[in-house]
Amino acid sequence: MLKSIRENNLKIHVKITILLVILLVVSVAFNVIANTFAQRQQAEKEMLEKTQILDQEMRAVWDFIDINQSRIDTDANGNYNFKNIYCAIAGKSVAKLFMLQNDYEIRYVSFTPRYSSAYPDEFEAKALDEFAISEQNLEYYDITALNERDVFRYASPIRIKESCLSCHGEPAGEKDITGHSKEGLKVGDIAGAMSIVMPIDLYMEGIQSNIWLQSVYFAIVLGTLIIIAYLGISLLVKRLEHTNERLKTESQYKSDFLATMSHEFRTPLTAILAFAELWERSPTPKSERDIEAISEVRENGKLLLNMVNNILEVARTDSGKVEMNYEITDMVDLISTIEGALRPLAERRDIRFITTVDADVPLINADWEKLRRIVENLVSNAIKFTQRGGEVDVSVSLVSEDSTQDNTQDRTQSSARIKNGIAIAVRDTGIGIKAEELDHVFEKFVQLDKSSFRRYNGSGLGLTVVKELTEAHGGTITVASEPKRGSTFTIYIPADKDMQSKE
Ligand code: HEC
Repeated sequence: MLKSIRENNLKIHVKITILLVILLVVSVAFNVIANTFAQRQQAEKEMLEKTQILDQEMRAVWDFIDINQSRIDTDANGNYNFKNIYCAIAGKSVAKLFMLQNDYEIRYVSFTPRYSSAYPDEFEAKALDEFAISEQNLEYYDITALNERDVFRYASPIRIKESCLSCHGEPAGEKDITGHSKEGLKVGDIAGAMSIVMPIDLYMEGIQSNIWLQSVYFAIVLGTLIIIAYLGISLLVKRLEHTNERLKTESQYKSDFLATMSHEFRTPLTAILAFAELWERSPTPKSERDIEAISEVRENGKLLLNMVNNILEVARTDSGKVEMNYEITDMVDLISTIEGALRPLAERRDIRFITTVDADVPLINADWEKLRRIVENLVSNAIKFTQRGGEVDVSVSLVSEDSTQDNTQDRTQSSARIKNGIAIAVRDTGIGIKAEELDHVFEKFVQLDKSSFRRYNGSGLGLTVVKELTEAHGGTITVASEPKRGSTFTIYIPADKDMQSKE
């Protein structure tokens, strides 16, 4: 028993540990992914800003030349003198100088390049396409791989202005002043694009070490929390186990105590009853009052004995000590024993007491004493809760297949179908049970209307005992009732002996 508890614990501990480790791993993984994503976005934003500045600077160079083109090409005397310095040359040269200092790459590309080196690659071609679609598209960027390196790529459009037409305008094919063929472009056309490449390895390295640092920190914090939670849970589990053990022994003590006590009570009670009977039968003359007093003693003693027996029975079932002594039982016999015991009580209360055992009721295999207690409890209850002038009726009949469950008003405690057996119905015309209370009648210590407790004294254990003993027989109990009209308790006991091989 203890061993199995310990094994169980081990399993729970292992399960909790695995669960917590999974939780930790998943959380850290989620943290790394979320962090990487956020950092990458941040990096992209920062690089975009950097590139935009660079783009503006390069544009300024280009524009400076464009604005001063005529001044460059005019000598001191005011004569036109082409010096071979124009925007593309300036842009490319400045870019080349700039690129000497760092890892960046700046170039100018076009679908109709004047040198094949200015032909766009895949990214640049996509950018050019975008720019051609709308004048609103002023930049195009992405993080991609270039020569097996992660890079940030950026492109912006270069459009033809009035001043560019002398070299790039119409008519197409005519040589310009530099000796290249004109492209035949118009103002607003895309002449090409500026393309900037920025390596991001350094950035990423920074981000990654940052993420690792954060993740380690996160894992440590979470791990600590989990360990604390785990220890807390273990402690709680241990305490619960302890309490559980204690409760078990306590309830065992209680059952044992109840069993012993009620057993002890029985001896003096039986003696009282025996002496009351002796006195009643003794030939000495007795007054009317004496006779009444004696029978009060006897009947109350019987009630008390019944209660004590019920407590004993419940204590026994609680500790799982119900032993069944099956024997061939004749219902006629059993009912007449009960009649003998309870008819005086019924008569004293002016209650008509009727018993019938159908002729076809067979001998059954049952625990005689327990079955007697079942019926006795039901009948004494019925008498207890019926007013003067009422009626209590006990009838035993044979039931065969399926005829058991057709009364919809019945509250069936167990829906097990009994194929063949006997039904013992105890009907009274007493105070009845309210519909909402029907479900609880078999619970321990339930005396339905608390106010009636004093009037109909009892321990509230009677019906619990009835139900437990019925179930020990493999049977079921149902109750149908109407307040103020009366109740009918029906017990079904299976006749098939093999079905009730409960201990
Ligand atoms: C004096 C003639 C001249 C003028 C004016 C001129 N360009 Fe160019 N442009 C050239 C030559 C020559 C090249 C090729 C030089 C090179 O790539 O080294 C070129 C190259 C380019 C390129 C690079 C792509 C390619 O086709 O090779 C772009 C883009 C460009 N020019 C746009 C313009 C724009 C926009 C203007 C007006 C602001 C302009 N150019 C003004 C002569 C000119």
